[in-house]
Amino acid sequence: MEDFHLREKITHFDHERIPERVVHARGAAAHGVFESYGTAASVCKARFLASGQRTDVFVRFSTVAGSRGSADTVRDVRGFAVKFYTEEGNFDLVGNNMPVFFIQDGIKFPDVIHAAKPHPDREIPQAQTAHDTFWDFVSLHTEATHHVMWAMSDRGIPRSYRTMEGFGVHTFRLFNEAGETSLVKFHWKPLAGVHSLVWEEAQIAAGCDPDFHRRDLADSIEAGAYFEYDLGIQVMPDDGSETFHGIDLLDPTKIVPEELAPVQLIGRLTLNRNPTNYFAETEQVAFHTGNLVPGIEVTNDPLMQARLFSYLDTQLTRLGGPNFTQLPINRPHCPVNDMLRDGMHQSAVHTGVAPYRPNSLDGGQPLLADEANGGYVQVPRTVRGSVVRAAPASFADHYSQAALFYSSMTPIEQAHIVEAFTFELGHVYEQAIKQRELQVLANVNTGLCQQVAAGLGLPAPKGTPIENVTPSGALSMIVVEPGPVAGRRVGVLADSGSDLAAVNALSRSLKRAGVDVLVIAPVGGVLKKGRSSVTVQRTSLTARSIEFDAILVADGTTPSRDVKTVILLQEAYRHCKALGAWGDGAAGLTVAGIALDAPGVYVDEAVGKPFTDNIIRALGLHRSWERAELVMESAVPPVRPDRPVRRQARSSGAQLRTRSSGA
Ligand code: HEM
Repeated sequence: MEDFHLREKITHFDHERIPERVVHARGAAAHGVFESYGTAASVCKARFLASGQRTDVFVRFSTVAGSRGSADTVRDVRGFAVKFYTEEGNFDLVGNNMPVFFIQDGIKFPDVIHAAKPHPDREIPQAQTAHDTFWDFVSLHTEATHHVMWAMSDRGIPRSYRTMEGFGVHTFRLFNEAGETSLVKFHWKPLAGVHSLVWEEAQIAAGCDPDFHRRDLADSIEAGAYFEYDLGIQVMPDDGSETFHGIDLLDPTKIVPEELAPVQLIGRLTLNRNPTNYFAETEQVAFHTGNLVPGIEVTNDPLMQARLFSYLDTQLTRLGGPNFTQLPINRPHCPVNDMLRDGMHQSAVHTGVAPYRPNSLDGGQPLLADEANGGYVQVPRTVRGSVVRAAPASFADHYSQAALFYSSMTPIEQAHIVEAFTFELGHVYEQAIKQRELQVLANVNTGLCQQVAAGLGLPAPKGTPIENVTPSGALSMIVVEPGPVAGRRVGVLADSGSDLAAVNALSRSLKRAGVDVLVIAPVGGVLKKGRSSVTVQRTSLTARSIEFDAILVADGTTPSRDVKTVILLQEAYRHCKALGAWGDGAAGLTVAGIALDAPGVYVDEAVGKPFTDNIIRALGLHRSWERAELVMESAVPPVRPDRPVRRQARSSGAQLRTRSSGA
């Protein structure tokens, strides 16, 4: 006992863990800056939205269902939580990568989370919704249907946080200097476009590299390839109806299609600095929907109202008392002068004797900030009617926007949705749950229901799907024109016989476009030929297709029959990624069974402009979806698309002030 060094060290160690977040436990974060375009100033008086204002931010991305140690690439919703350290205090925009939520009323949040988490008896499965309790809940609770469609789509498996949209979900009320109010939905638009993994990649990554997304975030920032997003708003009139084109703006299971209210860009977020210490920053950060600044208010959305209570309440336990707002990561970057005192882990040394108001002993300090002095004062609202525990009639529409979402997808995206439902329901033990979910799908889209039923080997029930849905092109992620390529990664297969001068030339020209090139060789070290040399960054043992957006074979490379190299190329082929070769490198593709005239396979005599242009164009299209039919043969009957939409990629850059979703 007298070895107090030992006791202190062991005691501290014994308490190194704090309870993980009850949801969103698995996360990764980065610091950055938000630069306002000033375009929101007409609707919002928040000072950080004034023209040219630069505000420090901290962003935490997360999955919802898994524990802290779970994999990044599981099918799930992603959290997209942003803390703006504004000069008027912290504003937390605690959003997700999907614009809708499972439930309309916060009182059901524990239910949906209990259903999604592992079964209470065996504590399996981890970070999955492919199990009985989840599908039991959502099949009984049909207001989740729209969100389930998003989760079963490719949005549930993002390629990177760099290629992920974010949404505030709820409708907010903004007001300007004149006190005029608007109803607004927040969107984050990634400059790199919106792209996802394919399901097999997500599964491989969960085993090969469970840190796939967080590694990508940290490595990219370290390499100076920052993640960038534009913040946008959809602005709807605050005319007292709290609806827009018949859509209930207080229903968090509904979107406002961008065709009805375009997203107006109001500022640029750049993530440019990694946390120094994961625990101090990423783990201890505490987001709270009640961290608002003057000009931004919440609405009467019953989901948001419950969130306003939940975050602070849970953080009292997770962070051990009421003073976690003093932690460096949570502390506002502006002065704080309140009368909150004492409590566990108090780190401020307060002066004065009168922490109450009014007082005469401390000269009446601190003074109360009124509206003119930056105090937070809500806009007056008229409230009429009876208070009852009941949902409004408009909340009873559970299918129209689920149908809208499905019919807005391209055939390939619809095929992925069919596959996802079939996979997830295929893991459900209880037949009655599968049948009940099929009934839900029958009310969304007959073709979808029939295909999932066929995959499950069950009869397809009849439903009453909404007819004449108007698709929203903005919801599809598949592009027909190339988008930005910065941040993409290309693997080049080479060995000591390869044309290394050309490898270096290719690497230089792709790097100019912001594309990272990694050399993959049979073993590590440095390859040398003549006066050229290249460093090997991956070997056939350490490379896996999931980290590359394209794979090329260099001229002079001995065609490899090594099963690992063959798998590398075949996986990239199966996942519709660009493949290519120059000179006799083409033989390396042929040995792996890849037809040189297949869609998205680029073969040229030499590395020149036509070859690099082709690769850059292919990267900008994300995948060669024309190849999908060749690689997706399966027992599940082919998709009969319901009026699919195809769309143009958007270009990047602040000059484009209106941008639609997906790319
Ligand atoms: C009534 C509904 C909801 C409740 C009660 C709720 C509750 C919670 C709780 C208790 C946490 C853990 C917080 C912590 O330990 O610091 C959390 C985290 C989070 N929630 Fe919610 N949530 C709800 C709905 C939503 C919705 C609709 C969204 C998206 C719009 C959302 C986004 C997030 C995010 C992004 C985090 C992680 C924040 C971080 O990175 O630390 N939640 N939520």
